[in-house]
Amino acid sequence: MQNKIELTAISHHFETGTDRIELFNDLSFTVECGETLAIVGPSGAGKSSLLSIAAGLEKPTTGDVRFILDGNIADIRTLRANSGFIFQQFHLMPELDAISNLALPLRLKGNKAAFQLAREWLEKVGLKDRAHHRPHQLSGGEQQRIAIARAFITKPKFIFADEPTGNLDAKTSESVTSLMFECAQETKCGLVIVTHSNRLAVRASHTFRLQGGQLEQAA
Ligand SMILES: Nc1ncnc2c1ncn2[C@@H]1O[C@H](COP(=O)(O)OP(=O)(O)O)[C@@H](O)[C@H]1O
Ligand SMILES: [Mg+2]
Repeated sequence: MQNKIELTAISHHFETGTDRIELFNDLSFTVECGETLAIVGPSGAGKSSLLSIAAGLEKPTTGDVRFILDGNIADIRTLRANSGFIFQQFHLMPELDAISNLALPLRLKGNKAAFQLAREWLEKVGLKDRAHHRPHQLSGGEQQRIAIARAFITKPKFIFADEPTGNLDAKTSESVTSLMFECAQETKCGLVIVTHSNRLAVRASHTFRLQGGQLEQAA
């Protein structure tokens, strides 16, 4: 049965002392496992906020986020437990080597095969010989490959990526994007990507532009 996240009539604003920042009004969309959704739009449009809302990390001012798992409505905690995240700044643990960074989410779940799986994923992302290097000893592209493997290693139903190629050069962006799409296809997860890159966005099953508080289908 199709697993999905349904966002219905989402509106969001921030109050900052005297100001009220309106981000968006009455947005609705659905993300299904097995498809990729790209969200593009100018800086400050609210893309990161929308991603947090879709992932159940932030509650919208009004509207409904529903996570459907095996045909049933599941709670937001279940959604979080079934989600992986990829960030522009990689966010690896600086004091851990590559393999320990990969093993960490599995170890937190009590998985006894954590290091063996981490080794398999290192090989999958082409960094087998970097197991004992710490993040500062890796290039940006290599760090993002580790971060992608870390997001996928627990086999989440959904992956949320916020500007995953924002810190990478064009050639590295290309290979990191391919890796992300291959992993998503293989694990049949739903992938939501916020990006500035049109080259990345065109590879998604659906592309939306968030601008002026409106979400419009771009492709
Ligand atoms: N916690 C917050 N409190 C107040 N304003 C915020 C908060 N988070 C984001 N904003 C503001 O909301 C707007 C949208 O932010 P964001 O979702 O990060 O946009 P984008 O990712 O598209 O650049 C920005 O003007 C930002 O300053
Ligand atoms: Mg952002």
